[in-house]
Amino acid sequence: MIDGPFKGRDFISILDWNRQDLELLFGRADEMKKFEKNGSELLKNRILATLFFEPSTRTRLSFETAMIRLGGGVIGFSDPSTSRMTTGETLADTIRMLDSYSNVIVIRHKIEGSARLAAEVADVPVINAGDGSQHHPTQTLTDLYTMKKEFGHIDGLKIAILGDLRQTRSASSLAYGLSHFKDVKLFLISPDALRMRQEVKDQLSDSKVEFVESMNIERHLPELDVLYVTRLQKERFVDPSDYEKFRGSYTVTTAMLQKAKKGMIVMHHLPRIDEIPLEIDKTPGARYFQQAANGLPARMALLSMIID
Ligand code: CP
Repeated sequence: MIDGPFKGRDFISILDWNRQDLELLFGRADEMKKFEKNGSELLKNRILATLFFEPSTRTRLSFETAMIRLGGGVIGFSDPSTSRMTTGETLADTIRMLDSYSNVIVIRHKIEGSARLAAEVADVPVINAGDGSQHHPTQTLTDLYTMKKEFGHIDGLKIAILGDLRQTRSASSLAYGLSHFKDVKLFLISPDALRMRQEVKDQLSDSKVEFVESMNIERHLPELDVLYVTRLQKERFVDPSDYEKFRGSYTVTTAMLQKAKKGMIVMHHLPRIDEIPLEIDKTPGARYFQQAANGLPARMALLSMIID
């Protein structure tokens, strides 16, 4: 049984799964597309528990949709103020409860390491829906799956990640994810104060991923296959005036895209604020809504592989 080795596995970091695992998952995601609207009974009688301590639209709702489309049920909260943690119950005790009620736990938390802690406490598989500013593995699944669908391969792609690279977990997680692939060239484009964190760059170096850091996106556009734009992480700035300082400092424009290589696609983890203006939606390379849509089959595939 192909899923045998995956049953019960946690998904905390994209680095926990190897390239072969990811390729299997992409194949499974293709198979899941036929259930996207009509559903199946693959996970009948299984329960997904969602614990979202930070806001989410895409990740939570696509997980819930994925579980319901596969015939399962959903419990959980998107507003932690309705849970007993407000009266002092610990995260570990909360996880113990959900472990007994459900077959899989999906958690988003602002503190890095929360998902790993949950996985240590729970017997059922735990999926990290984003913790701290480094890991968001199911966003990266969605991103890599999108690149694979668009180009047929990920090896050899030239990819720029633009924006708040220091604080955007989708950015660092994507860099980690790309380290599984060969001959990828990464352009890390950001204001100087928002550069990618050293530990992420160390991982790229250890995996022999060629990367350059730059503050000028226009210079690199003619050679890019993918421009991956990130949101300025307003909620993670200690000093709110820093957010105002960087706001608008890397907006993508239609004039800028005239310099892009033919066939280049524009991706974004969403939500966007003003770094991708609405007029970009009509340009031929805009893929961010398709990217978000791809999150559904990718998460259906993951759930189907790890839930026993
Ligand atoms: N990209 C992403 O994680 O979106 P949400 O915050 O809406 O889940």
